[in-house]
Amino acid sequence: MNEESTVSLLITNARIVTSTDDYIADVYCEHETITRIAKGISPASCAAGTEVIDANGKLLFPGFIDPHVHVYLPFMGTYAKDTWETASRAALVGGTTTLIEMICPGKGDEPLGAFDTWLGKARGASACDFSFHMGVTRWDAQAEAQLREIVSRGIRSFKVFLAYKGALGVDDRELYHALKLARELGVVVTAHCENETLIAEKQAELLAAGRREPRWHEISRPASVEAAGVAHLMAFAEQTGAEVYIVHTSCEDAVLAAQRGISRGVRAHIETVIPYLTLDSTYAEKAGDNGFEGAKYVMSPPIRDRRHQDFLWDALRARTIATVATDHAPFDYKGQKEMGRFPGSDFTRIPNGIPSVEHRVDLLYTHGVATGRIDLHTFVDAASTRAARIFGLKNKGIIAVGADADLVIYDPAHRGVISAKTHHMATDYSGWEGWELKGRSSVVTVRGRVMVRDGRFVGDTKHGRLVPRS
Ligand code: URP
Ligand code: ZN
Ligand code: ZN
Repeated sequence: MNEESTVSLLITNARIVTSTDDYIADVYCEHETITRIAKGISPASCAAGTEVIDANGKLLFPGFIDPHVHVYLPFMGTYAKDTWETASRAALVGGTTTLIEMICPGKGDEPLGAFDTWLGKARGASACDFSFHMGVTRWDAQAEAQLREIVSRGIRSFKVFLAYKGALGVDDRELYHALKLARELGVVVTAHCENETLIAEKQAELLAAGRREPRWHEISRPASVEAAGVAHLMAFAEQTGAEVYIVHTSCEDAVLAAQRGISRGVRAHIETVIPYLTLDSTYAEKAGDNGFEGAKYVMSPPIRDRRHQDFLWDALRARTIATVATDHAPFDYKGQKEMGRFPGSDFTRIPNGIPSVEHRVDLLYTHGVATGRIDLHTFVDAASTRAARIFGLKNKGIIAVGADADLVIYDPAHRGVISAKTHHMATDYSGWEGWELKGRSSVVTVRGRVMVRDGRFVGDTKHGRLVPRS
């Protein structure tokens, strides 16, 4: 018996909240799984040495799952800043116990080589559990054979980019064949939806007119460009029968385009990400630092006008939006975002992305649950359970006998403030600097092992495992 399987834990007086249930009970965990849920479990009935944690007054959630992160990411002439050690530690402090990372090979790269590279970065270095979406960036016989091999190794989802022309983006032939293979293998295809030609042309026009500041980023890829990408994906999914998942949906137009496809019978899921629910376009227009501060908020699709945010909250409440992820893509402000500093450079060279893996759960609780925009069940569903169901993480996202003992004891009375000075991500800034948080993950377990106690990381950065998927 290894050390892990001998750890046992009893959580008493917990108010257990899942995507469907809300009740008080004790939860006993051993051999990495939940083995008993009942009222009044006596410590004497548990294994010798069982740790007992009283959760009275707190909420007990299934470990949260972030189905869209980037940790190792060569992108736009630089590399994302986190390692699996820093990202997984930050995720856990924020209540996230499983990450699904996008593998993003360059167009000339071999899929299997990329898979081994990305897996090699996480294995033995992650504190939390993890899986991957396999990026498809080229299509030929060799790529197809290797994608089949990767699926047989347990990776049950692909990723395609309809944006990033000439870099990660796929053309229509590649998209069609990736979807056909996914349909054949029963694999979900996650997709970044924006029309890359429209973006390239608009960027060129803006630059020719001397518009180089970060705020032009949004103008270069407006809501209709995103909706066009979604409609395009829907047409291809309809023709191939593939199941698709639209990542980082930022606006009403894109959600409506997805719904039109769904109403025609397309199997599609809609993801939004925490920046779109909490930030709006005024952040990318911030004029500090000689007009460059908005670069901190440059991501794609861009952060939209406030009215889209209200629409997204409504769609989340209605569960039209299935999941809330982060699209964690961590670049420093100094030296990295600055690659696009005007006048010498321009907004098209600002590495896209916002570091956010640490604060998704607390921001969603503070701005969703605490304000009454969504209820606790929708919160758990969107931040954990639905991702587990869509991506085949069979033993995650639930609190049930037999499930992995990934648990979050959440203190809704805690008050905190976000700051780059105290966060665990490797970046030198936070897009939410100074924001107040209502609630915090006080204790977090991964397969029964306590990784966070009193909000502080106490785990080891080798505990995480590649999650088996069904
Ligand atoms: O701006 C973003 N979203 N950066 C990360 C790469 C991607 O498109 O997901
Ligand atoms: Zn994307
Ligand atoms: Zn992404």
